[in-house]
Amino acid sequence: MNHNPVYLALDLPRLDAAEALARKVAGHIGGIKLGLEFFCAHGHHGVHELHKLGLPIFLDLKLHDIPNTVAGAMQAIHVLQPAIVTIHAAGGRAMMEDAKAAAGENCKVVAVTVLTSLDGDDLASIGVNDQPHAQALRLAELAHSAGLDGIVCSGHEVGAVHKQWKDGYFVVPGLRPQNGGNGDQKRIVTPRQARDDGASVLVIGRPISRAEDPLAAARAIEATL
Ligand code: C5P
Repeated sequence: MNHNPVYLALDLPRLDAAEALARKVAGHIGGIKLGLEFFCAHGHHGVHELHKLGLPIFLDLKLHDIPNTVAGAMQAIHVLQPAIVTIHAAGGRAMMEDAKAAAGENCKVVAVTVLTSLDGDDLASIGVNDQPHAQALRLAELAHSAGLDGIVCSGHEVGAVHKQWKDGYFVVPGLRPQNGGNGDQKRIVTPRQARDDGASVLVIGRPISRAEDPLAAARAIEATL
């Protein structure tokens, strides 16, 4: 059977609504992504509830602290058996190494490089004098050499990153299906394009969660892959 690379981003404030949506589309996605907002609101209980669907769980917690604290946090989430956890590459080599060492055996640890909300001026204001692209490449290299499984990157970058890091695990958000009502947007990357360029995981939220018919939307995306 073909492994479905789509992780549904459940960025809904209510646990019951998130659960209902996940249950509806469960047969047409490969996993569930839970972010910081969900985790702060619903904690371990919320994750346990969604585990009942039997799908892999991606905890997008973007951890960033001293190595000892991040390693402790990784150990504290073992019990949730996440398939993927994110940390910030900007936390440095020792933090990444310790996070990976503390992760469960079947847990991919993936680094966020530069948040897409930051531009060159934002980086300059925190003392980073490179443009976001150059800084992202530098942090990707650091994550690789620190022994992480991969990085989070955009659909525009995944092809180039994949060429540099052949066996990397690449998590790609910000995707839009071709006919998802975004026909006017010029630079969309479709789930299929990202997968062909080397994405391991396709993070998709609103194109499914805000669709009039989420099940039909999930099926349509699955059919393109
Ligand atoms: O846009 P969409 O709802 O598909 O986003 C899915 C997930 O991807 C969200 O949880 C969002 O936080 C994440 N995302 C991201 N970086 C982007 C765009 C979206 O991490 N540039």
